[in-house]
Amino acid sequence: MGEPELTPMQRALRLARQALGTTSPNPSVGAVLVRDGVVVGEGYTLPPGQRHAEIGALEQAGPAARGASLYSTLEPCCHFGRTPPCTRAVIAAGVAEVHLAVIDPNPRVQGQGSRELEAAGIRVLVGEEAGPAGELYEAFAKHIATGLPYVSAKFAMSLDGKIAAYTGDSKWITGPEARDLVQQIRRESDAVMVGVNTVLADDPQLTVRQHVSGPQTGRQPLRVVLDSRGRTPSQARLLREPGKTLIFTSQEAGAEHAQRLTSAGAEVFAVPAAPSGMVDLGAALRELGRRGVVSLLVEGGGTLLGSLFDAGMVDKVYAFVAPVIIGGRQAVSPVAGQGVAKMAEAWRLSNPRMQPVGSDWLIVGYPQARR
Ligand SMILES: NC(=O)c1ccc[n+]([C@@H]2O[C@H](COP(=O)([O-])OP(=O)(O)OC[C@H]3O[C@@H](n4cnc5c(N)ncnc54)[C@H](OP(=O)(O)O)[C@@H]3O)[C@@H](O)[C@H]2O)c1
Repeated sequence: MGEPELTPMQRALRLARQALGTTSPNPSVGAVLVRDGVVVGEGYTLPPGQRHAEIGALEQAGPAARGASLYSTLEPCCHFGRTPPCTRAVIAAGVAEVHLAVIDPNPRVQGQGSRELEAAGIRVLVGEEAGPAGELYEAFAKHIATGLPYVSAKFAMSLDGKIAAYTGDSKWITGPEARDLVQQIRRESDAVMVGVNTVLADDPQLTVRQHVSGPQTGRQPLRVVLDSRGRTPSQARLLREPGKTLIFTSQEAGAEHAQRLTSAGAEVFAVPAAPSGMVDLGAALRELGRRGVVSLLVEGGGTLLGSLFDAGMVDKVYAFVAPVIIGGRQAVSPVAGQGVAKMAEAWRLSNPRMQPVGSDWLIVGYPQARR
């Protein structure tokens, strides 16, 4: 059986998803132009300063854009940024109708783009595939409103809620399909973060391997380590991989650690220590947001995820559950920290979605505090 045929908007969403992780701090958009039931042009957002999706579709269509319908996952921009406004190009090309999945949450656009199109006599219809498009722009919406990255917590645990054996061994809890999906989520993220104990225990590469689908840009998400005292080994594999590694230390860590880690290939950024003595999470997230990190995937371990949950800083959860029992009172669980005192205060996922991935399960949702 072949792939079911996609509607133009679903096709636009697929294009937008392909470009995720390459367009930040801009949103990743997909655009498809249809005339007389035939796709005459399509495009997706290129890295900042380069062509927007709508322009790609219009260029491909050429004169066929006149009288066509444009399907775009996001409202076209109407302001001069690094590129001229897309609304003008859409109007100039003679497009007859524009279908938008969602309105741009950027206050500089937010409805203004649609109004400009309508003022030029173009029919604008909003809301097709609004659910998946809203999810596509959840990170962008947070970053544009707060300047902070959207924090997704990912962990892989056994049926008895462990992320490693009592010895620290954790390779592998889930199967190859789940690990491939993690690669995909990494590819769509601007940065991946771990606590230093995970670097010491697993020596992870934290890279996107080449077999992952999507445009092969060679781009790697920024690797981020929280390491108050500068304990990351100079030989750590993540320091030798393509792309950049940023290590947050506390200001008390001392200059010699910074020198050693910088010579080993990392960038070291010192922030104030929290009362716990560890890296202040708010300061680290603000710095990442300032650098244009819109989506941050936190891959553990339990101590780091515990701190983030205690601080109420987790926006989304990707929990992989493997049909395996590890046991062991000392074996660590995905979220440590202080935790809540009462079940009524627990983080419950809103809109949880569950899907099989190989022989494992993935649960995705948005933690909501009931305090
Ligand atoms: N199955 C999975 O999904 C998965 C994923 C990742 C890890 N793991 C396993 O988890 C284990 C490691 O987890 P872990 O809980 O021991 O450690 P972790 O969360 O990886 O690292 C915690 C350490 O990070 C540093 N840190 C700096 N600032 C922090 C902050 N604000 N909040 C929290 N930590 C901060 C602290 O060390 P300093 O005080 O020295 O800075 C802290 O002790 C390993 O066995 C690994 O194999 C499993």
